[in-house]
This record gives sequence, structure tokens and C-alpha cells, in this order.
Amino acid sequence: MKNFIAAELAGQEQNVSTAFSKQSSSFDEVDAGNEILQWMRTRVRENVLKFWHKGEHILELNAGTGIDAIYFAQKGYYVHATDNAPGMLGILEKKVCEHRLQDKITTQNCSFLELKNIKEQKFDHIFSNFGGLNCTPKLEEVIKSFSPLLKPCGTITLVLMPPICPWEMLYALKGNFKLAFRRFKRNGTPSYLEGVRFTTWYYKLEDVIKMLGDDYEVLNVRGLGIIVPPPFLGNFVQKHRALFKKLISIEDSIATKAPYYSWADHFMITAMKIK
Ligand SMILES: C[S@@+](CC[C@H](N)C(=O)[O-])C[C@H]1O[C@@H](n2cnc3c(N)ncnc32)[C@H](O)[C@@H]1O
Repeated sequence: MKNFIAAELAGQEQNVSTAFSKQSSSFDEVDAGNEILQWMRTRVRENVLKFWHKGEHILELNAGTGIDAIYFAQKGYYVHATDNAPGMLGILEKKVCEHRLQDKITTQNCSFLELKNIKEQKFDHIFSNFGGLNCTPKLEEVIKSFSPLLKPCGTITLVLMPPICPWEMLYALKGNFKLAFRRFKRNGTPSYLEGVRFTTWYYKLEDVIKMLGDDYEVLNVRGLGIIVPPPFLGNFVQKHRALFKKLISIEDSIATKAPYYSWADHFMITAMKIK
């Protein structure tokens, strides 16, 4: 991966922030209307709830409009929800007031590259859902910044997009090599959201495990969207509901097994701080 100079990184951060701020007003509607995304979210939540206990404090990175923050706060967790897109945070803060969750959710405009700015407390768990961390080429740096924020035996759960996504690769059969192999670009893949261009980096599970190093013990790994189609094929469900259910049941039976968990639209890794 090429070295990024500070100005390039700042430009990337700004573009991502602008793009997601622009998308913020339609984000929740798109999310709620996509049954594949809803299914993936359910699996992520079921997984973290195996490790979290009511009343614990969660640091959420790239929290977006707070779809998960609200859910977990309503379940009795304290969430410090961070993001660097003011538009996303604006929606989140409005929802916190509407749901009267001011005692459970705090917010901070903070890039995950600036976690040293979170000074107040240590957390039981750190959580990043749905590929926010794919927006940085500095994942290792971000992971290294977790330790001072985590209590002993605290966990991190990261949901990231890997390079191999079987459904996208099937597009090679239709001659769409651009989509089929878009995740393989060494220096990141150009992405466009709301007319704003930024770069997305796809991370291999084994590289993330290396980044965690000896400071963490991996507790579990699962793929999301191995044989279930990726969320951009959301209308697959309306057309093939019975098949969708069948694919879910097959995927659930293989999703925690190698090598399937790393051949997916997203993978989710949970690890515990041991040093
Ligand atoms: C696909 S959205 C996911 C939002 C939320 N986690 C969810 O599951 O709905 C990605 C989020 O990552 C945030 N993001 C991207 N780069 C970031 C950075 N450097 N620091 C903090 N948040 C970032 C974006 O602003 C956006 O809200």
C-alpha cells in the first residue's frame, strides 16, 4: 500500500465526511428498506450481545446516524457514539433527544484517526459497524490506538469489507470485470457517494489479525454475505424470498468456518484485550 502524505489523508477524511453528511438525510430510510442489510445488522447485534453485559460502556466508532447506538442504549448500554460526518451526527443527536436517551448516549465529532481526543473514560467494548474503517488506509494505526481506551479484558468488534466477495466476483461471468475485481486494487478503490469521490480500502481478515498482534485474543470471526447476496442487491429478496431464507440458513451453518468467513461482503471479528 502506498504511503499517504498528510494532505492526501486530510483530503480523504474531508471527502468521506462530506459524502456521508450529504447522505445522512436518506441514510435511515435506505437502511430500513434493505432487508439484506437488516439481516446483517441482526447478526452483528446477536454476536456482540454474546460478549457485552447490560450497563457496560461502549465506544462506537463511525456510528453514523446512530442506528446501533439507539438500539444498544435501549437495551441498557451506555454508548459514546463518534463519527466525523457532522450530518450523520446531527441526525443521531436528534434521535437521542426524540428517544430521551440523553443519559445513555453521548456523541462526539471525532475521526477514528483522532481517538486520543477521547479522554474522559475507559470503555468495556469498542465497536465499529459496516465498513466505516474501510474508509482509511491507516487501519493498523487506528487499531493501535484502541488499547489505552479499553479496560482490561475489554473487547473490540470490527465489521469490515474484505477483498473477496463471491457475489461480486460472479459479475465476471457477465463481463463486468470492473465490479467483479474492484476490491483488489492495491492502493484503494475509487468510490462515489452523493457525487463525492473518496477511496475505499478492502482488508484481508488475516491482515487485521496481524494488526491486532499479541495484545488481543481473537474470540470469534464470522462472514456476512458469503452466499447471501450483498446489500446492493436488496431487491433480490422481493424476487426470491424463499431462496433468500434458504441461503440464510446455509450461510448461518458455514459463516464461522474457515475459509468461508473471509469470502464475504463483510466479515466481523471480535477480539479481547489481553495485555
Ligand atoms: C456505512 S456508514 C456506517 C454507519 C453506522 N456504523 C451504521 O452501521 O449504520 C460509515 C460511517 O463511517 C463514518 N466514517 C468514515 N470515515 C470516518 C472517520 N475517519 N472517522 C469517523 N467516522 C468515519 C462515516 O461518516 C459514516 O457515518
